[in-house]
Amino acid sequence: MRPSPRPLIVLLAAVLLAACAPSPPPQPAPDVAHGRYLVQISGCNDCHTEDFMDRGGNVPEERWLTGSRRGWHNAQGTTYATNLRLLLNRIDEERWLTLARTMKTRAPMAWYRLREISDADLRAIYRYVRWLGPAGEEAPPALPAGVAPPEPYIHFPPVH
Ligand code: HEC
Repeated sequence: MRPSPRPLIVLLAAVLLAACAPSPPPQPAPDVAHGRYLVQISGCNDCHTEDFMDRGGNVPEERWLTGSRRGWHNAQGTTYATNLRLLLNRIDEERWLTLARTMKTRAPMAWYRLREISDADLRAIYRYVRWLGPAGEEAPPALPAGVAPPEPYIHFPPVH
């Protein structure tokens, strides 16, 4: 008796169906997805994304971490949250690790907190920002003490 060709036909049909099925949308790699999660929960967007706090976080992801033109003003001068999309797409991963471990910025950036982030998490943040790609303009340069910043700005002198 000849073997039935049916199993072969079923297998061929299954292969054809699989080949024709629409491919799923490209998913970011797990470390990139973890980087996105870290950026979401650690508050980088609150300052490094224009209007993020005002809009309760409702800013499209393509604008995340593109820096801010809203100054942080106190007696020491005025600072602007850096465009991290441009910065991290300009330096390599090892340089990012060194920067995060050694940098010391002016207020209100909690530079000391970056030192507490594990290498794996810093790499994930880096890979996420690389995955987003470069975007936006450089934030304005910091202003020295005594120079009035253009409005609007945030005035944050401590009250004693
Ligand atoms: C409270 C606001 C605030 C938050 C939150 C914040 N930053 Fe910043 N960040 C700033 C400001 C303002 C500067 C610029 C400081 C300066 O000019 O000295 C800065 C500077 C930096 C720099 C230095 C860039 C350079 O040019 O060397 C890095 C890197 C950075 N931030 C990363 C982060 C990351 C990563 C997070 C989240 C974990 C974060 N920041 C959260 C306000 C903030």
